[in-house]
Amino acid sequence: MKREPAQIVVESQTSIQPSERARIKGQRAFVVWMTGISGAGKSTLANLLEQSLHARGLHTALLDGDSLRLGLNSDLGFSDSDRGENIRRAAEVAKLMVNAGLIAIVATISPIRAARESARALFNENEFFEVFVDTPIEVAEARDVKGLYALARQGAIRQFTGIGSVYEPPAFHDVHVQTAQMSKQDCVEAILQKLPVGGA
Ligand code: ADX
Repeated sequence: MKREPAQIVVESQTSIQPSERARIKGQRAFVVWMTGISGAGKSTLANLLEQSLHARGLHTALLDGDSLRLGLNSDLGFSDSDRGENIRRAAEVAKLMVNAGLIAIVATISPIRAARESARALFNENEFFEVFVDTPIEVAEARDVKGLYALARQGAIRQFTGIGSVYEPPAFHDVHVQTAQMSKQDCVEAILQKLPVGGA
């Protein structure tokens, strides 16, 4: 017999609140959402940022688009609707992590502005920081660290962001880092300055 999904779900109440889970770690919990085209430097900066937060004794989690696609999101491709679902899941996982008191760093292309806004809508104000990791496509393509731009130009990858598929830059962002012009360390510093992590 085919079961109907439950239509009425009431969120269960917990005795320990998210803010208490963060407080016991001595920190505020929030999301740093890094968006940008492939090869812009999202993963690199996410790693450096995590190192920096970790060195300050803060508790973090890193959700990288490529890694998520090897596990939780391995059933998804790169159509508009699959990318939407990819972002929805990343945001929901980040929400669970913030509820657990962690600083969640998300690094995904997340090319659609509305999908990023839906992600932001899951969080309270001052819990979601959107970082535009901005690199001209010519620069990312010249770097072509993974060789994917070459494959996309050959037609071997359809729907490649910036070539066969759109990237919508943020209309609003909390931090803007231009990785072709700034050093990695300066990018991380610019991000840190906007985050509620106290002094240096
Ligand atoms: S997103 O658009 O859905 O947010 P996500 O960040 O999860 O993308 O994954 C992007 C990574 O998948 C890229 O870094 C690249 O390694 C790989 N990739 C494979 N196919 C594509 C494609 N068509 N467009 C963009 N990235 C792709």
